[in-house]
Amino acid sequence: MSAATDRERLRIAVQKSGRLAEFSQDLLARCGLGFRRSRDKLFCFGESLAVDLLLVRDDDIPCLIEQGVCDIGIVGRNVLAEYSAARQDGGIVELRALDSAHCRLSIAVPQELSCATVQELNGLRIATSYPALLGAWLAEQGVAAPIVELSGSVEIAPRLGTADAICDLVSSGATLAANQLRETFKVLDSEAVVAGAQSPPADARGELLHLLLGRIDGVVRVRESKLVMLHIDRFGVDRINALLPNPQLPTVTPVEGGNGRVALQAVCDGPVTWQHLEDLRRAGASQLLVLPVEKLLA
Ligand code: PRP
Ligand code: ZN
Repeated sequence: MSAATDRERLRIAVQKSGRLAEFSQDLLARCGLGFRRSRDKLFCFGESLAVDLLLVRDDDIPCLIEQGVCDIGIVGRNVLAEYSAARQDGGIVELRALDSAHCRLSIAVPQELSCATVQELNGLRIATSYPALLGAWLAEQGVAAPIVELSGSVEIAPRLGTADAICDLVSSGATLAANQLRETFKVLDSEAVVAGAQSPPADARGELLHLLLGRIDGVVRVRESKLVMLHIDRFGVDRINALLPNPQLPTVTPVEGGNGRVALQAVCDGPVTWQHLEDLRRAGASQLLVLPVEKLLA
């Protein structure tokens, strides 16, 4: 580790622009962190805690952590895994999976090319920005296929004739469809993660990191959670609980002048849809209210 270890403030690397940029800043705001942007817009000074942000290219994040310039980063698992595979070490690890920005690193071939088994990849030139991950996967599968390393626009390589297949991130699949490519084999499941060194800083930054990870856990836990409130006949409570999606510790209280009706409230883990509400009403519930959960500290 280098010079930067005498910092007292925790420093987080986040993507400057791209698929995780907005998500990362939003997550940190939900964790109660507020920042003042510097003039060059690359550094954000933390005003509520001793936690600062560095806005960088996502591919640089693992290296910035390794060098001690930053303590942690928010990055796609794909970027972290490629970094680790290329160096064949596990110095920078995944501290938390954030259950967001899900995508996969997959092999895709031109639609007209038959490719039913992994063995059919033998001899195909595969273009990718993930040479280490792809190389390790091919070796594991016992496939010998030359890797064409490209830094971007991988999806057009087959049409340009520079490769026969590609290995790239797939999320909605729109990019593959637009380029007449078909997804065949998955190399890695990816999502946004918090990356950091294996052991936390041994000073005040370590405590800040512990605090922040706790807050992140709380935010991730309640992201899809809803507080459901409703009225129901006292004898209908079990019926209602069975209809709610993963209700946590439902609370039942009498309603003043409610003729035996009670108010039920429960935090539900997972989306609460219109269909749920319609089913609940058919089961006798009234006064249905669904509220987002902002924070949860159990
Ligand atoms: C990735 C990937 C594809 C696209 C796939 O690029 O390289 O181009 O997303 O998404 P889709 O299946 O929803 O069409 P990304 O936007 O991450 O930018 P990058 O060039 O930095 O990898
Ligand atoms: Zn990138």
